[in-house]
Amino acid sequence: MMQPIDLKTNITTQLPEELVAFLQATGHDTAITGEPLYLVGGAVRDLFMGKSSFDLDLVTEGDAIALAQRLASTEGSPVTFHPRFQTARLLWRRWQIDIARTRSETYTYPGALPTVSPGGIETDLGRRDFTINAMAVALEPGRFGELLDCHRGLADLKQGLIRVLHPASFTDDATRIWRALRYEQRFGFHLEETTGLLLKQNIPRLDTISGDRIHYELECILKEEAPEKVLARAQELGVLAHLHPALHTGADLGGRFAAARASTAPQAPPENLYMALLTYPLSTREVEGLISFLHLRKNLARTLYDLALLRERQPNLARPEITPSQVYSELHGQAPEAIQALYLAAENPVARGNVRLYLDKLRYVKPSLTGDDLQKMGLAPGPRMKEILDELRLARLNGEINGRREEEILARRLLIG
Ligand code: CTP
Repeated sequence: MMQPIDLKTNITTQLPEELVAFLQATGHDTAITGEPLYLVGGAVRDLFMGKSSFDLDLVTEGDAIALAQRLASTEGSPVTFHPRFQTARLLWRRWQIDIARTRSETYTYPGALPTVSPGGIETDLGRRDFTINAMAVALEPGRFGELLDCHRGLADLKQGLIRVLHPASFTDDATRIWRALRYEQRFGFHLEETTGLLLKQNIPRLDTISGDRIHYELECILKEEAPEKVLARAQELGVLAHLHPALHTGADLGGRFAAARASTAPQAPPENLYMALLTYPLSTREVEGLISFLHLRKNLARTLYDLALLRERQPNLARPEITPSQVYSELHGQAPEAIQALYLAAENPVARGNVRLYLDKLRYVKPSLTGDDLQKMGLAPGPRMKEILDELRLARLNGEINGRREEEILARRLLIG
């Protein structure tokens, strides 16, 4: 019999010591109750690729909820349960650990959420998306690190292939189409030939998937290192049009995404900016439709809507005779990421230059006189005060007045008038 592949060394060298100890102790715990425990999915794939995942998926052939409860209670770790699906999510120190009961999944109709029933580890691996994600590692003492690879995932990983486990995979769950492209581009892999054909055949099924599920896939894509590659591939295969028929990546989405990455701080991920750049070709009406289909959060929805408005008003910003105060009025009050996206995507160089001027300079211009100063000059607080401060700002923006003295003169004139 062939010697099983042992991943013990990968685990102990690639994962932090405390996490290895956690996995060993948990494997021991479940062995006592006679319920084998496995590490599955992306974490196993990543162990072979020399990467360490910080999100782990564990499956047990026993009671997943009771196991999660025991693990959570030892350190008082936060945990959420889904007893109906026999799954739990544990936040153990810095790690997110999903624990599930091994199960089979059946789909009552294409695009439906699966109906779940208990099954052993092999059944559980057989319900998964791609062979490279369908490997497991035993965690019980004595077998700790032993690989279970019933679908030749390791061979596909070595050959760089994304392969479905069975012909109905994309029919069962069309979100796997987006997942396939995400892994293909992340790892520089290829769709195995039959998988590629099945994927293409099932593209129309994306229209049966709920907006929330598509939104989740899109979020995963935008968290990738180079989401533009996934989107370009999605366009090439005709997948992107099923997100919205008016979307297209154009010649320069890659350049714009790279500029978006460069312009955001590491602690402020560029996902919203990416989304704005992606939806740039859409009209306000089309954007409204996409926002409501994907159930986008208020903040992002506002950014996308403001950008669509700005894009439609771009000719105003492109007028050669436009004054700085008019540039200011066009852009002031719009969502900051919409303005940034407009700068990165604007086709017209004059408009683009004006957005740059606003971002670098105009947005910071304000009068040196304050409400207090105007009160000292005899003006009672009220809407007129804001109007005068706004007029002072516009005059400063256009260079019509300079310095505090000239502001005072103009303010006095406005107070009388
Ligand atoms: N899975 C699946 N079909 C899906 C989603 C997930 O079969 N539509 C399975 C895969 O086996 C996958 C596992 O569930 O490996 C966990 O899913 P997820 O956390 O989304 O992916 P990871 O494998 O952790 O990969 P990633 O690196 O993208 O997070």
